[in-house]
Amino acid sequence: MAEGVDGVDRHRIPVGGSSPYDVLVGPGLRTGEILAEAVGAAAGNAAFGATGAAAILTDSNVGPLYAAGLARSLRSAGMDVLETVEVPAGEGSKSLEIYAEVLGRLARVGLSRNSVLVALGGGVIGDLGGFVAASYLRGIGFVQVPTSLLAMVDSSVGGKVGVDLPEGKNLAGAFLQPRAVVADTAMLGSLSGREVSCGLAEVLKMGLLSGGDFYRDLSLLEPARAGDRGALLTLVAHSVRFKAGVVEADERESGRRAILNYGHTIGHGLEAAAAYSLAHGEAVGLGMRAAARLSEKRFGVELAAEQDELLGAAGLPLGTKGVEPAAVLRAMGRDKKRRSGDGGHRFVLLEEIGRPVWDVPVSEEEARLAVEEVVE
Ligand SMILES: NC(=O)c1ccc[n+]([C@@H]2O[C@H](COP(=O)([O-])OP(=O)(O)OC[C@H]3O[C@@H](n4cnc5c(N)ncnc54)[C@H](O)[C@@H]3O)[C@@H](O)[C@H]2O)c1
Ligand SMILES: [Zn+2]
Repeated sequence: MAEGVDGVDRHRIPVGGSSPYDVLVGPGLRTGEILAEAVGAAAGNAAFGATGAAAILTDSNVGPLYAAGLARSLRSAGMDVLETVEVPAGEGSKSLEIYAEVLGRLARVGLSRNSVLVALGGGVIGDLGGFVAASYLRGIGFVQVPTSLLAMVDSSVGGKVGVDLPEGKNLAGAFLQPRAVVADTAMLGSLSGREVSCGLAEVLKMGLLSGGDFYRDLSLLEPARAGDRGALLTLVAHSVRFKAGVVEADERESGRRAILNYGHTIGHGLEAAAAYSLAHGEAVGLGMRAAARLSEKRFGVELAAEQDELLGAAGLPLGTKGVEPAAVLRAMGRDKKRRSGDGGHRFVLLEEIGRPVWDVPVSEEEARLAVEEVVE
């Protein structure tokens, strides 16, 4: 529900489960007392006052834009910001080396047990920061201030944190629910157009899985892509509410949470086969395109044409060149999320919009035809 406080529209979305927390969404939250309150509460302060110690983790793109303002507003609310750790922007920072470096920095400033790590950045910073917060002194408070659209709608909700290994992505990690997520949608103004489109791929995915009002509001993809603040706010709030509902019912991904992998089976294969020249959201968009065609064949649903239009509205490509379908299928075979023992694949498909099914067996031949739909 949107509440107007201080003349600012914002949403407070509760996430239930083993360790409930709120996701706050709205423009301008990073400098308001809301943030200080959330961080103060995360420090375990019964009086809900913003006292206690905190450290900020950020990256080299986001830090120069927002870290000083964030630290200032925490300090003016009485918090002791002991350190701002800035790591190089990019997936390369989700590594054991950087993880160890960040732990060392926190130890050297003497961050104590009942302090808070604030992750200010995209999914890389949220995943890395969460793993640091889960393990430093066996666990300290963790607050996410997601700054990319992908982090606001996807990675900051659900509690999966971790780093990559040379052997593969996200191979070391933990489940850690943050104590709060503060998503200031005004920060999206400095995000590149490509990053916005990639975040919109996950928004579109969840709108299709959800159906209903969220699906209808996908008409806001185009204005959101153009930077319309109201459209972005509405779509972020829908996405967080949807993802929260899915993950709180299945925190450890033993069942329905798998629907969030719509478009990701072929998407992951494309990402790997294109040697990561396709961004994640672009690959997922193509994967959804292939999954829509499989859904049409399997269930007779009419989906692909409408979904293509929405992909276009989000600014996502409808095809890619120079990728070998065989390489995509090989990479899909290595994907850790694949669970079929019979040489085939398991897909999330849509029986209709708002009615996903998961663990659907798809033969190697069907998968190859689907991949060929999106590679030229
Ligand atoms: N934990 C989960 O459940 C989950 C879910 C999905 C993705 N992920 C992870 O998230 C990561 C991808 O996240 P991402 O796309 O946010 O990547 P990212 O953190 O690398 O951010 C993308 C780029 O945008 C920049 N940036 C972020 N916010 C900005 C802003 N407001 N203004 C200007 N620049 C900004 C970053 O510096 C970076 O260069 C991957 O590592 C992926 O594995 C995790
Ligand atoms: Zn994704």
